[in-house]
Amino acid sequence: MRVEGAVALVTGAGRGLGRAFAGELVRRGAATVYGAARDPGAVTEPGVSPVALDISDPVRVAQAARQCADVSLLVNNAGVMTLSPLIGAASLDGARLEMEVNYFGTLAMCRAFAPVLAVNGGGALVNVLSVVSWFTNPANGSYGASKAAEWALTNGIRVELARHGTLVVGVHAGFIDTDMAAEFDAPKVSPASVVRQVLDAVEAGQLEVLVGERTRQVKASLPRDQELIYPRPSRQPGTAGTAGPQATLPSSNDTGSRCSRRSRPSSD
Ligand SMILES: NC(=O)c1ccc[n+]([C@@H]2O[C@H](COP(=O)([O-])OP(=O)(O)OC[C@H]3O[C@@H](n4cnc5c(N)ncnc54)[C@H](OP(=O)(O)O)[C@@H]3O)[C@@H](O)[C@H]2O)c1
Repeated sequence: MRVEGAVALVTGAGRGLGRAFAGELVRRGAATVYGAARDPGAVTEPGVSPVALDISDPVRVAQAARQCADVSLLVNNAGVMTLSPLIGAASLDGARLEMEVNYFGTLAMCRAFAPVLAVNGGGALVNVLSVVSWFTNPANGSYGASKAAEWALTNGIRVELARHGTLVVGVHAGFIDTDMAAEFDAPKVSPASVVRQVLDAVEAGQLEVLVGERTRQVKASLPRDQELIYPRPSRQPGTAGTAGPQATLPSSNDTGSRCSRRSRPSSD
C-alpha cells in the first residue's frame, strides 16, 4: 500500500521507535498520523495528532477504534520489557506485564482495528516484534516469550485478515537505540533506519522485515537452533554449559546474545 495519503495510527508514539514512526509517516505524506500514547502530551512530533491510549485498557482501545475510524495503516509499536529472567525473577509480575501489553494489548488492537482497516480498503497492520521472538536471551526471558506469542498472533491474524485484503507485516529487530535497550552494551540500530525499512516493506507488500544481519542469522538458524543457540546442561553442578551462540553464530553489527548488560543492581 502507499503511505502517501494513508491514515496511520502508531501506538507508543510519545518516544523511542514510535516517535520515529510518527515523524517519518508525516514526512512520507500520510494524510493523517494519529500518535497514540498513554500520555498524549508526550506526542510532540509536528503534524501528528495525539490520541490517549493504553493498549492494555480495553475501554481505551475501543474508544480509539471509534475515534480513529478512518485508519488504513496501524502500527502496533507499543511494548514493554522488564528485564526479567524466567527462573531468576523474584515474581511473575514482569512476565505478566509483558504478556498483558505485548501480547494481549497488541491482540486487542488488532481485533478492534481489523474492521476499521477492512472498511477502509484493507490497508496494512504492522506488529513490531523482535529477534527474541526466536531467540531467548536469559536476561529478559519472559520478554522473549511475550514476543514469541506476539509473533504467533501476527501469523494467525495474517491468515484471518487475508479475506479483508489487509497486509500484515511482522518486524523483527535486534537492539534499537531507544530507552528500552539503554541497559545493554551492544551495537544498536537507529530508530530512523528501522522505520525506513518497515515503511519501505509496507509499500512493497512484504510480510516480514528482518532488521540487521544478526536477526537474519538467528532466523536462518532455527532448523538447528538447539544445536547452534542453546547450551547443553552441565554435567557437573556449577559448571557452565558446553555450547552456545557465542560458539557458533558469527558476530554482527546488531543484537541477539552477543551483548552485556550494564550493571544495575536493583533490576534483577
Ligand atoms: N529497543 C529495542 O532494542 C527493541 C528491539 C526490538 C523490538 N523492540 C520493540 O520495539 C517497540 C518499541 O520499543 P522502543 O524501543 O521504542 O522502547 P521504549 O523507548 O521503551 O518505548 C516503548 C513505548 O511503548 C509504550 N507503551 C508501553 N506500555 C504501553 C501501554 N500499556 N499502552 C500504550 N503504550 C505503551 C511506551 O509508552 P510510555 O512512554 O507511556 O511508557 C513507549 O512509547 C516495542 O514493541 C519493543 O518491544 C525494541
